[in-house]
Amino acid sequence: MILDFGSINMDLVMAVTALPRPGETVLCDGYVTKPGGKGSNQAVAAARAGARVAMAGAVGDDGFGQVMRATLAKEGIDTALLATSDRPTGVAYICVDAKAENFIAVGSGANLGVRADQVADDRLTPETLLILQMELPPEQNWALLKRARARGCRAILNVAPAAAVPEAALRDLDLLVVNEHEALAIAGGLGLDTSSPQAAARALSGRMALTCVVTLGGEGAIAVGPDADFAVPALPIQPVDTTGAGDTFTGVLAAGLDAGLPLDQALRRASTGAALACLALGAQESMPTAVAIDAALPRLGPTTPI
Ligand code: RIB
Ligand code: NA
Repeated sequence: MILDFGSINMDLVMAVTALPRPGETVLCDGYVTKPGGKGSNQAVAAARAGARVAMAGAVGDDGFGQVMRATLAKEGIDTALLATSDRPTGVAYICVDAKAENFIAVGSGANLGVRADQVADDRLTPETLLILQMELPPEQNWALLKRARARGCRAILNVAPAAAVPEAALRDLDLLVVNEHEALAIAGGLGLDTSSPQAAARALSGRMALTCVVTLGGEGAIAVGPDADFAVPALPIQPVDTTGAGDTFTGVLAAGLDAGLPLDQALRRASTGAALACLALGAQESMPTAVAIDAALPRLGPTTPI
């Protein structure tokens, strides 16, 4: 069972011909509201991939909050641990250009009021796989992680957006999911090898006794850990919107591990799912079901040793 302690945002998405530069105004036809937030995206990705998912987080007492609660519930996600905050529901302004490049600014709102004690101890069992990202107050993340660890949960941290992670928290993780920049930043912050993403992953894995997965966008991902030393390719696609691709990767990966798949197979599903999620505007729009992942999986190239 997956417990996702994470952020919930309403995304206001604009498809622009070119991203505005600082000081510039660009016009486009309009905007669409799409459910988002890294926490909520990962919960939805995991649920569509077939996992049982509970989400702890917060929304505001407003229209976006109602929509976000309903969206999660519709995906079959347990929403009993969601709080209603005095602050407004988190919002992300997202511009996507014709080449699928984007920028995202998040107004965190209710996410800043999320507390680790929203999750009672009885939710933290050895069957629980906790997933965390970096859009909640970090000290709440670390407080929940510590309790979860003491109670025998497995834990995955996706360090997105990039942020500092204390050494004690890293030691409490089974799996760290980072992109290349995040891998180098975390390894660098600890004085470890940063000569390449592989070197950083190897150093982090060795020092912190965890498995480090580094996502490489169109190049796929690598995994380095006690039982892992391999690269998984990406599915070749023409992206429309890459928003939420990393979240889909983490959510599908978590679903695979929760179902007891070996890391290699879970990663192959994650890589395939992340590519499929890029085929429509909006983070959750084209997130695949388990059936869609199964159908696309034969097109993914082989796993290779690194
Ligand atoms: O990772 C994509 C997400 O980042 C968006 O849905 C947006 O809400 C921001 O949190
Ligand atoms: Na998308």
